Amino acid sequence: MRVLFVCLGNICRSPTAEGVLRHQLQRTGLADQVEVASAGTGDWHVGKAPDARTCKAALARGYDLSAQRAQQVKAGHFGEYDLVLAMDASNLADLKAIRPPASKGELDLFLRRYDGALDEVPDPYYGGAAGFEQVLDLIELACEQLVDEIRGRL
Ligand code: 4NP
Repeated sequence: MRVLFVCLGNICRSPTAEGVLRHQLQRTGLADQVEVASAGTGDWHVGKAPDARTCKAALARGYDLSAQRAQQVKAGHFGEYDLVLAMDASNLADLKAIRPPASKGELDLFLRRYDGALDEVPDPYYGGAAGFEQVLDLIELACEQLVDEIRGRL
C-alpha cells in the first residue's frame, strides 16, 4: 500500500505526517508493507529539507525528518499512490484540479477521515512555535487511526 500526504510547501505539515506515519508503522511492524511519501502543491521549496522549526518540533517527539526533501505533486502521483491525503481544503481543491479522471488512487482530506478536533491541519508557516506543536498533535492522533485503517486494508 502507498500513502502520499500533500500540503502547500511540503516543508511543514506533509513532511511531518510522512515522518509520523513511517514511525508508527515501524512501531507496529507494518513498515515493510506500506510506502509513505509527501509532496506540496507549490514548487517553491522543491529539493529542500523540511523547515527548521518543523524538524526541531518533530525531533523533540522522536521523529527525524532531516533526510526528507520537498517535491511538487504531479498528476502521475495519483496512479502511484492508493491514498492521497490533503492537509487542508485548499490543498484538496488544488489536487482535485490536477487529478486525472480515471485515477484509482483515493483522494481525501486527511483529518476529515478520522475522529479529531479539526478537519484541517492549520498552516504553521507564518505563526509561532505553538502552531508546530498543534500540527504534531493533530497528525499523531490521525495517524494512529490511519494505521488502524491500513492494518484492516492489508
Ligand atoms: P506547508 O507550510 O504547506 O505545511 O509546508 C508552508 C510552507 C511554505 C509556505 C507556505 C506554507 N510558503 O509560502 O512558502
